[in-house]
Amino acid sequence: MAGRTSRRCAHPRQRTMRMLSLLAAAASLACAPLFAGAAPAAAATATANTTAAPALADKQAFVNDLVARMTLDEKVGQLRLISIGPEMPAAKLMEEITAGRVGGTFNSVTRKDNRPLQEAATRSRLKIPIFFAYDVVHGHRTIFPISLGLASSWDMGVVEQAARISGLEAASDGLDATFAPMVDISRDPRWGRTSEGFGEDPFLVSQCSRASVKGFQGSSPANADSVMAFVKHFALYGAVEGGRDYNTVDMSPQRMYNDYLPPYRAGLDAGAGGVMIALNSVNGQPATSNKWLLRDLLRKEWGFKGVTVSDHGAIDELLRHGVASNGREAAQRAIEAGVDMSMADTRYLEQLPTLVKSGAVPMALLDDAVREVLGAKYDMGLFHDPFRRIGTAQTDPADVNADSRLHRAEARDAARKSMVLLENRNRTLPLKKAGTVAVIGPLADAQIDMMGSWSAAGVAKQSVTLLQGMRDALAGKGQVVYARGANITDDPRVVGYLNFLNWDNPEVVQDKRPAGDMIEEAVRVARGADTIVVAVGETRGMSHEASSRSSLGLTGSQLTLLKALKTTGKPLVVVLMNGRPLTINWEKENADAILEAWYPGTEGGHAIADLLFGDANPSGKLPITFPRSLGQIPTYYNAPRIGRPFTPGKAPNYTSQYFEEEYGPLYPFGYGLSYTTFSLSDIRLSAGKLARNGRLTASVTVRNTGDRAGETVVQLYVQDVMASTVRPLKELKGFRKVMLAPGESRVVEFPIDEAMLKFYDARLDYVAEPGDFNVQVGLDSATVKEARFTLE
Ligand code: BGC
Repeated sequence: MAGRTSRRCAHPRQRTMRMLSLLAAAASLACAPLFAGAAPAAAATATANTTAAPALADKQAFVNDLVARMTLDEKVGQLRLISIGPEMPAAKLMEEITAGRVGGTFNSVTRKDNRPLQEAATRSRLKIPIFFAYDVVHGHRTIFPISLGLASSWDMGVVEQAARISGLEAASDGLDATFAPMVDISRDPRWGRTSEGFGEDPFLVSQCSRASVKGFQGSSPANADSVMAFVKHFALYGAVEGGRDYNTVDMSPQRMYNDYLPPYRAGLDAGAGGVMIALNSVNGQPATSNKWLLRDLLRKEWGFKGVTVSDHGAIDELLRHGVASNGREAAQRAIEAGVDMSMADTRYLEQLPTLVKSGAVPMALLDDAVREVLGAKYDMGLFHDPFRRIGTAQTDPADVNADSRLHRAEARDAARKSMVLLENRNRTLPLKKAGTVAVIGPLADAQIDMMGSWSAAGVAKQSVTLLQGMRDALAGKGQVVYARGANITDDPRVVGYLNFLNWDNPEVVQDKRPAGDMIEEAVRVARGADTIVVAVGETRGMSHEASSRSSLGLTGSQLTLLKALKTTGKPLVVVLMNGRPLTINWEKENADAILEAWYPGTEGGHAIADLLFGDANPSGKLPITFPRSLGQIPTYYNAPRIGRPFTPGKAPNYTSQYFEEEYGPLYPFGYGLSYTTFSLSDIRLSAGKLARNGRLTASVTVRNTGDRAGETVVQLYVQDVMASTVRPLKELKGFRKVMLAPGESRVVEFPIDEAMLKFYDARLDYVAEPGDFNVQVGLDSATVKEARFTLE
């Protein structure tokens, strides 16, 4: 990854900022004579008039006319997506843009920084605007919970609102597009990017994909307060072998179509304007050179009309994949496969002109790609006004990081809803706002880690830690005492890895004391308190790109710390911060309560305190299975049925299981507790038979049987009892989040029709086969009520 620095969530901004101030200086010199006194709006009108003003209302005609007037070099220029950073010196970038050799950039995140770049574009021969993109995944200035947390809310209103606010904040910083949502299904928590996606289930991830796209784009990606969504990573990136990042993916077409592809499709059907292509290969062909994937499936079968971008340096990587022997072949294979824009590599720039001139790549193929790029810019509204998100200098925020620009209330609400209560023995929680609470742990006061990875333009200093949240909640009512207790790791090699490229501002700063001393101090502090709240897990860099793990337990001396704290006999509340399922067997057995907080974002500390003290009632449910051990992976609830399944209560011999440990996951998909309890009635089916074009209803009554108001998620699963191919044990087909007062009950109805029973069969026909179906309804995927109907 030589030369890659500025785009990383964890390590980027100082370098980018230095680069940008140089840029701004260069720009002010270069632009002064031309733009003195010229408002961006005027520049916009000029653009429209000189390009093809009469045809602006007609996208196709407008784009075609423009393509017809472009030189070969200008066309190739449109396919370049440049990372703003040290790899492209400021003066050179301005020159390239003015020469019409840049289609878009990413990693510059303020209007002030983007304005001179767009002004340079308006000075190019055809005045084609550039677009500005960024990895706005779960927040821009305000950081929301990581996507895995957002999915845990099972509340699509929350997912959409997080994306809406992110889009709005990004747009008001002059950005036009985001490389999100990331909708890769992940069933292997060793993969560090599990944190960035919405979990293991095709249905839930598809819902999140749709809600995110709607949020980012609003009613149209052309709106001044919207950004275009680039669904990624197409395709199957979450299935990398062994959870090792960038690794191979080899998968049957049935599994692809039934399980892994639906979330991408859902995002596109919701109107996403762009697709980012995955770094991995798919059945022997890198996605970046995969004609089947990008042309046959994406364009022909799905009818996608937007723009595709490669991932970072992926065209270049075709050489390392061993499917291109030089840059020329790499560029040719990528353009032939259907990669419109090349991100952060020079192969298109260097090779396409000669490839086209020699006839090796037909001009028509290049024109198609250029048309998609121009079409996307048109859809972003940039031909109507290249400065629609950049605005005028007079209206720039005085301080881009001003707290008043944040959406703290919405972030706090989302964070409350994203956390999952895993254990609560003897009603340890909620805590009383009185007495002394010992707040302990390497993540208890870690501002940067609250944000999680890919935290865009989030500022660590603005995030509320658990310690701060507890202090605010207890102010005037109780005491908070603190000890760090442990480093996240005691291995200098791991520290080095996590601080890679970031030595000038390391994220992981070690407490130099011996582990034993830190634990001793923590125990001393805990002894003086009434309750212990301990924050353990992973730093955000441990759940990130290229952060694959070969173990899933707590690292370093964290578990030793927990065990030592347990000896105090004080109630032990474990708050987990992590971006993937962890193997927390000891914790499950010994902690009095466990709250899975993920990385909860800017307002995380307040939200955790809200839940711990009962100002809010936990309602999150796991969007991914927690395994008992690393060896159990992959373990996911919707696995295909097998011939020798383990049956509870029967001898396990000659069944599919691991003999050394208990069968099944530690926590199943869909699981999560509340401070109240719920009961579920048996399922009532409106009919025993379903006609092909008919519909039946499965209803259940859910009742709040406890003494507090609370929300739960009623989940509908369906099992195809017998089919032409092996079908999953069960599949999520619907869910409803219901708020109930104590003693209140509600009837929840799930309509069921033929469409919900369809799957891709051995010939990839999308069919619903006649026969019996089991309907299961539960408050998690493991404990369900069941009824049966027949599809005629
Ligand atoms: C990641 C993408 C990201 C891109 C640009 C790549 O390394 O895989 O998800 O959008 O960088 O930052």
